[in-house]
Formats: sequence, C-alpha cells, structure tokens
Amino acid sequence: MVKVLVIGGAGYIGSHVALELIDKSYDVTVYDNLSTGQKANLTQEAKFIQGDILDFQSLKNAMKGVDAVIHLAGKKAVGESMQNPQLYAVNNMQGSINILNAMVEENVKNIVFSSSAAVYGIPQYLPIDEQHPKNPMNFYGYTKCMMEDLMAWYEKLKGIRYMALRYFNAVGYDALKRVKGKEANPQNLLPIIMDAATSRRDGFQIFGNDYDTKDGTCERDYIHVSDLATAHEKAIHKLFSGEQSRCLNLGTGKTVSVQQVVDAAEQVIGKPLKYSYAPRRAGDPAVLVAKADLAFKVLGWTPRYTDIKEIIQTTWNMEI
Ligand code: UFG
Repeated sequence: MVKVLVIGGAGYIGSHVALELIDKSYDVTVYDNLSTGQKANLTQEAKFIQGDILDFQSLKNAMKGVDAVIHLAGKKAVGESMQNPQLYAVNNMQGSINILNAMVEENVKNIVFSSSAAVYGIPQYLPIDEQHPKNPMNFYGYTKCMMEDLMAWYEKLKGIRYMALRYFNAVGYDALKRVKGKEANPQNLLPIIMDAATSRRDGFQIFGNDYDTKDGTCERDYIHVSDLATAHEKAIHKLFSGEQSRCLNLGTGKTVSVQQVVDAAEQVIGKPLKYSYAPRRAGDPAVLVAKADLAFKVLGWTPRYTDIKEIIQTTWNMEI
C-alpha cells in the first residue's frame, strides 16, 4: 500500500484529497495544525497527526516510511498576504522549505504541491497555459512561485520529483457530504453567496459590472474540489509510474461570470439573493481561464463537474 502524508489534509481542499486517496486504497496520514483545518473533515480511515510545518522535528517524524507527500498547508487569503507578508513568508515559504528538507532527511522522493493560478498574475493572453510567464501580483502568488522554483532545484540537487498543481477557482464540496466542516470567515465568491443565502451575512456585492466580458462581470474558471482531488491522486500515480516533474494547470477551460454564478445560485437555492453592484475590486483581472490540456494529457484526467449549477448544488447541500 502506498503511504501518503497529506500535509494540510484537514483543510478545505486537503480533506477532499485525503478522501480521494482513501477511496483509491492508499495508506493516508493527515498532518495538520488545525489552524484553519478541522478534525470534522477527516474520515475514520485517515490517521491523523496534529503538527505544524514550522516544527521540523515533528515533520521529520511524520515522514518516516512515507512514499509521497502532498503539501496543501498554505495560507491562502490574497488580501491578507499583502497586509501581512511576514505571516506568508513564515508559513508558506519557511514551512515549504521545512517540508522539502524533511523529505531529504527522511529520503522521501515524491511531492505533489498545491500551487495556484496566482503564479501568473495579470494574464498576457488567454487561455493561460503553463508556458505563460510567471508574474504574481500578490505575495500569496509569490510564495507559490518560490516553492515551484525550490522544487525544481531540489529535483536537480536531491532527486525529489514533483507535480505542482496550479488550481484555478476551487469550488464545491464532496457530493456525499463526507467533508463536514465549512470554512470559517470565507473570502471567496461562492461561500460568501452561501452566507448571504442563509442570513449569516446581510447580502453581498458584485465587484464590477463594467468589464469587457460577456455580461460585464468578471469571468473565472471554476473547478470542483472533488475534481481537484482526483487530479492529486493521478499525479501521485504518475510520479510512481516515472512521469517527469511538471507544473500543471487544473481548470475546466471554460469561464463562468460572476453574474452567471449568482443567477445559477438563485436557481439552486430557489429564492432571490440580496446583492448590489459595487466598484471593481483592486487587482481583479477581467478573465482568468486555464488551458488545461496538459493536465488532461499527462494525468489522463478530465473534470467531471462542468455545470455550474451542479457545482453550486454540492455547496448548497452543506446548508440543507
Ligand atoms: N467577487 C464578487 N463579490 C464577492 C467576492 C468575489 O463579486 O463578494 C468576484 C471577484 O471580484 C471575482 C470573482 O468573484 O471576480 C471570484 O472571486 P474570488 O475571490 O472567489 O476568487 P479570485 O478569482 O479572486 O481568486 C481565486 C482564489 C485565489 C487564486 C485566484 C487565482 O481565491 O487563491 O483565484 O486563481 F489566487
């Protein structure tokens, strides 16, 4: 049985990844400091170590006998990363360095890393392929770039092989509702809509309706978290089959506008939502969309969820 250490495996994406690995009969240990992750997200089959990526000794102990690491333990709030880069430097950069160094010491040779479309910054062309220049426009994106670069060096110098998976907009929940914990204080569109729909907040705003897009609102590439999870399992599998290290976009290749998300959410929820139009949010590109053909080809992966209503339904199911 392949032994995988899922670091950050109690978080939103990590818990879906852990589920997928358990479904595919991997031996899964989750390592998480529970700062934002929740024990409620873990299924019985996963072993659990409460630990921090800044605790090098604890990380090293957790890596004994492990065949591969999946690293999803990053902080991810773009705005916060600009206000408090120190926090992101320590958690995302020092933490990632610790993971790589612990892998060297414990002779673990494979890593799948949770990267982001944020590495690209403002798109120079669309759809964005993996050759697009990396030019992050926030510190969060920079921390992801740094780890990608480090992994390339550790491969050359220490033989550690990697897959960096650059997520576009992660949304949705496990359709079987096995992930129980909702994210606290959500920063992203769909969870904010859910908060408004359930009166946890008093409505929401659409940031900008004067973009040069199909309906004036921003367009994004929404990828279901269970599809992301499947890609991680396939990435591990490919690393073990000798596939070369790669950076891969994970998206659907299709865009959905903010207005379309809101309209679809109203249909799923079955009632009108309270919202207004507000000025553009600083730093938002009009359109972000992946060219994800490389992931399709290399991993033999295609997203199962392509209908935004179906995706929203899996999120709404968490509320009902
Ligand atoms: N939006 C609103 N109102 C809100 C929240 C968001 O209109 O209350 C809009 C945004 O302006 C944007 C779209 O909804 O046009 C999506 O916004 P999110 O905040 O959900 O996501 P982003 O596209 O800004 O960011 C996401 C991830 C980042 C990642 C980035 C690039 O959250 O981690 O995609 O892939 F860096």
